[in-house]
Amino acid sequence: MKTVMTIEHRGAIAVVTIDNPPVNALSNAVRGALVEAVETLDADDAVKAVVIACAGRTFIAGADVREFNLPPQEPLLPDVVAAIEDAKKPWVAAIHGSALGGGFEVALGCRFRIADAKASVGLPEVTLGLIPGASGTVRTPRLAGVETAVKLAVSGRPMKAKAALEAGLVDAIADGDLVEEAVVFAEQAVEKPLPPKTRERPVTALAEDFWAAAEKDAAKPGYRAPLEVLASIRFAVENPFDAAMEHERKIFLELRASKEAAALRHVFFAERAAARPESLKGIEPLAISAVGVIGGGTMGAGIAVAALNAGFSVTLIERDEEAVARGIRTIDGILAGSVKRGKLTEAGRVELMASLGGTTEYRALGDCDLVIEAVFEEISVKRAVFEKLGQVCRADAVLATNTSYLDPRLIAEGLANPERFIGLHFFSPAHVMKLLEIVPVPQTSGAVLATAFALAKTLGKMPVRAGICEGFIGNRILKRYRAAAEELVEQGVAIADIDAAMRGYGFKMGPFEAQDLGGLDIAFLQREGARATGEAVPETLGDILVRAGRKGQKTGGGWYDYEPGNRKPIVSEQVTDLLRDRIDGDTSLTAEEIAERLVGAMADEGRAILAEGIAEKPADIDLVEIHGYGFPRHKGGPMFASEG
Ligand code: NAI
Repeated sequence: MKTVMTIEHRGAIAVVTIDNPPVNALSNAVRGALVEAVETLDADDAVKAVVIACAGRTFIAGADVREFNLPPQEPLLPDVVAAIEDAKKPWVAAIHGSALGGGFEVALGCRFRIADAKASVGLPEVTLGLIPGASGTVRTPRLAGVETAVKLAVSGRPMKAKAALEAGLVDAIADGDLVEEAVVFAEQAVEKPLPPKTRERPVTALAEDFWAAAEKDAAKPGYRAPLEVLASIRFAVENPFDAAMEHERKIFLELRASKEAAALRHVFFAERAAARPESLKGIEPLAISAVGVIGGGTMGAGIAVAALNAGFSVTLIERDEEAVARGIRTIDGILAGSVKRGKLTEAGRVELMASLGGTTEYRALGDCDLVIEAVFEEISVKRAVFEKLGQVCRADAVLATNTSYLDPRLIAEGLANPERFIGLHFFSPAHVMKLLEIVPVPQTSGAVLATAFALAKTLGKMPVRAGICEGFIGNRILKRYRAAAEELVEQGVAIADIDAAMRGYGFKMGPFEAQDLGGLDIAFLQREGARATGEAVPETLGDILVRAGRKGQKTGGGWYDYEPGNRKPIVSEQVTDLLRDRIDGDTSLTAEEIAERLVGAMADEGRAILAEGIAEKPADIDLVEIHGYGFPRHKGGPMFASEG
């Protein structure tokens, strides 16, 4: 077995170094080695104190994900942490990178914590549907108070070293060599009386109003873990240490076996796998720094913002000067919104705007490494754009289309060096939505495909590879989802009941409310376009509404009525009248049955998509739905959810 730990002696201080790449996760071997180290060093009279540090890029970043789906194995982490805390010699955690979850709990068992200035600490268990399982909710409030414990464990967001020092989670920040400073710190610490062990520190219980307010903040519909974290912290500060540990462990094990946690684990693994596709291993992506965007409308402006935020320079091309100015105004408006929300400084906005150029001249794209087209959804318009790009761009510049429905192979037809062409399907608003469908054409080179995945990472997007079909993965499933929802209406289920059921399932909006917000006309025009080419596209309920002028909120009504200036949907008598002839029956379904039907329809389409090779794996479909269509993360996506 490979060694996961070394012990070195520097005078009276032993330095225990965990070396378990890539992130020093707390595997069974590491836990075992830690318990052994405590025993060995306790027995060594020459050792006065112990520094625990990690090799590689980080301190212990958490539990070992490979053990996530297995039953817990001994030694259990709470026992490891207790062994460190009860050691005869004081342990000092020397934290660099991140001390997360179980890693931070190990640090909590130490008598002192020293962090590198760039380090962070956190309890992210909640993001996996769990509560900390090895004293995170019990020792943190004893070390740094209830408020800090709540902040750390309920949000799951890590805290940077400086904030952690101020909060009392760490004792010192090292400016120089972390381990050396930790050794000096340990040498000095043993000369003085030691502070109490974390478990022995007093904790002040807080009043009822604090908990009421915290519960309100923590509550997230459909998620159990955030409230359990809170409840566990409360139990921990109102009860003795041992009872609190038992309570935390019980809830941790219960949640570990929950559907919510299984779904969140599934998404966690899916995201990791999607970001680094096996098939692209060893293929070097092309370097990107200058990006061109064609079209400064809804999508182009959002894509430009995403690119600017990622540090690229952007050249925006529009049809005429007025459209250039409009596009630049839209981009500036989005950035100004970020300033307003405190996400960007005013100086930052000015700097980003200085990296943006706008023109009608395609010649300006000569230096671009990547050009993304987001012009009207018209094959002739798009082809004309790529013809020009073929003339002005470097032969190795990556050329991408953001088309939603057109066949990228047809767009690329006639393009010289088609190996540089690819579909990059962003979602609206493109600077916000995480999903990026990556759609290669048969000629697309491996390097260009690898570049698309690397680009997604730089832009902070979730890449999913999709094959070519109408609507790729996401919009194809959306179409099926909407059709299934309309089918329920035809069977007599009330529109408002369907929306409420899907909200209850975890979507922010039901299918009809969402259409009213986005507008019914886009899908309608698309169907009309298909009808114009002679395709037999059946009349949908949505078509009936659009023909009656009901295009959604923007026309004062779609599936619902709206009062001017109010987005609250009101059940519409006119809609009932318009659809009367198409409604046959008065089916009554529970919210669960409605959700099951609609999620089932999505999964059915997903299975067809897999069978055709449009998606590579079921988990990719789940990611598309979660990151592009608001599918609730804690349900794991339609494919996971329909597996039962
Ligand atoms: P839009 O109508 O808001 O913007 C298109 C822009 O392209 C306009 O500003 C127009 O002036 C400009 N344009 C047209 N022809 C041009 C040319 N030859 N050269 C330079 N600029 C030109 O449309 P939107 O919504 O931004 O859509 C753009 C593309 O993105 C379409 O292919 C669409 O299917 C796709 N898409 C749209 C999504 C959406 O939610 N709106 C989502 C994902 C993809």
